[in-house]
Amino acid sequence: MRGCYRCSGTVGVPCSERYETGEAVVQQADRMQAVAVTPGRAGSARLVEVPQPAAPGPGEALVRVLQAGVCGTDVEITGGLYGAAPAGDDFLILGHESFGVVEDVGPDVHDLAPGDYVAAMVRHPDDCPNCRRGEWDMCIKGDYRERGIRGLHGFMRPYYVERTSHLVLVPAARRTLGVLMEPLSIVEKGLAQIARIQDRMHWEPTTAVVLGAGPIGLLATAVFRVSGYRTFTVARTPRPNSRADLVEQMGAVYLSTQETPVSELGRALGQIDVILEATGNGAVAFEAVHSLGTNGILCLTSVTPGDRRVEVPADTVNMRLVLGNMAVFGAVNANRSHFEQGVRHLEMFEQLWPGVIARLITHRFPLADFAAALEQQQDRESIKVVLDLAG
Ligand code: BGC
Repeated sequence: MRGCYRCSGTVGVPCSERYETGEAVVQQADRMQAVAVTPGRAGSARLVEVPQPAAPGPGEALVRVLQAGVCGTDVEITGGLYGAAPAGDDFLILGHESFGVVEDVGPDVHDLAPGDYVAAMVRHPDDCPNCRRGEWDMCIKGDYRERGIRGLHGFMRPYYVERTSHLVLVPAARRTLGVLMEPLSIVEKGLAQIARIQDRMHWEPTTAVVLGAGPIGLLATAVFRVSGYRTFTVARTPRPNSRADLVEQMGAVYLSTQETPVSELGRALGQIDVILEATGNGAVAFEAVHSLGTNGILCLTSVTPGDRRVEVPADTVNMRLVLGNMAVFGAVNANRSHFEQGVRHLEMFEQLWPGVIARLITHRFPLADFAAALEQQQDRESIKVVLDLAG
């Protein structure tokens, strides 16, 4: 038979991924299991059987997945709130946080070799001016696709084929941290944008506040610390707790909102130059404005597909923003430069705090236990839950 599992033998029907074309299936009869959902349908997460990828083509690598991270976005996709299947498919393979090892490379590949450890970038560009220059995280047209989220199958499967332009080399010495590269890239993008935006004036920031002590919040804490900020990480749970321990091991201060509400942080800490919001709660941004210092900047990173509503003291918020020359902006996704900065920071983290960042990975599950992993990610005790395919 010629044709892929989706186009049922019809030669020439374009598939969502090159390796799903007819030729590929003829060469690779073997199938593998993947975690998939029907986007828009809550509770549809399941194991599906898909073909093993074919040999990589020019400019591509075949990657064996070692770990796939679970994050809030995966929980929202499995809850039917977010996500889109690849064109023509009625399912989406989940997973946008990945770490793996190159098994094979296609012709003309010189930047990676079998045995290299890699993390994959999430977003694939469209043809807009920003995407064309590699800034797909700033896509203006909106026709981008994202692995495991929107229009492209993700990494919760044993193998994938990807263009090497979308893979980032992770040093072998950092392989225990590789699955954190994607959330770290989100933080790096936020900080890179803060630096660019604050170029609007002479700026000597000293104090950063991170709202949220999940993986993004803790990685942001680490990046602010290595960047020399006096850093305060704020979360709900009072001390002592394991997140507070991690924050303190990085030389930052942990504060609980039960003692200091977000809107009171400015009064408690004095001038706050930067706030990075990573709580997953869209309402927190409006409270944070009350604590931002003069000329300060508030970076929002939470993707919040819910419909939470709050009453906002609009004039007060507006007045603070205007009289304080403040900037509030959103940051999503990341491009190659942010992943590469993340690799450099992983090295610094390990030198400064050996073994600390690895403690962000609190739970590991085999691929087949994906349901338990998704559940565990919603547990307050979990920081980063990963599917471990390394066996
Ligand atoms: C991912 C980003 C992605 C965003 C929006 C986040 O969870 O980390 O890479 O761009 O969701 O889909």
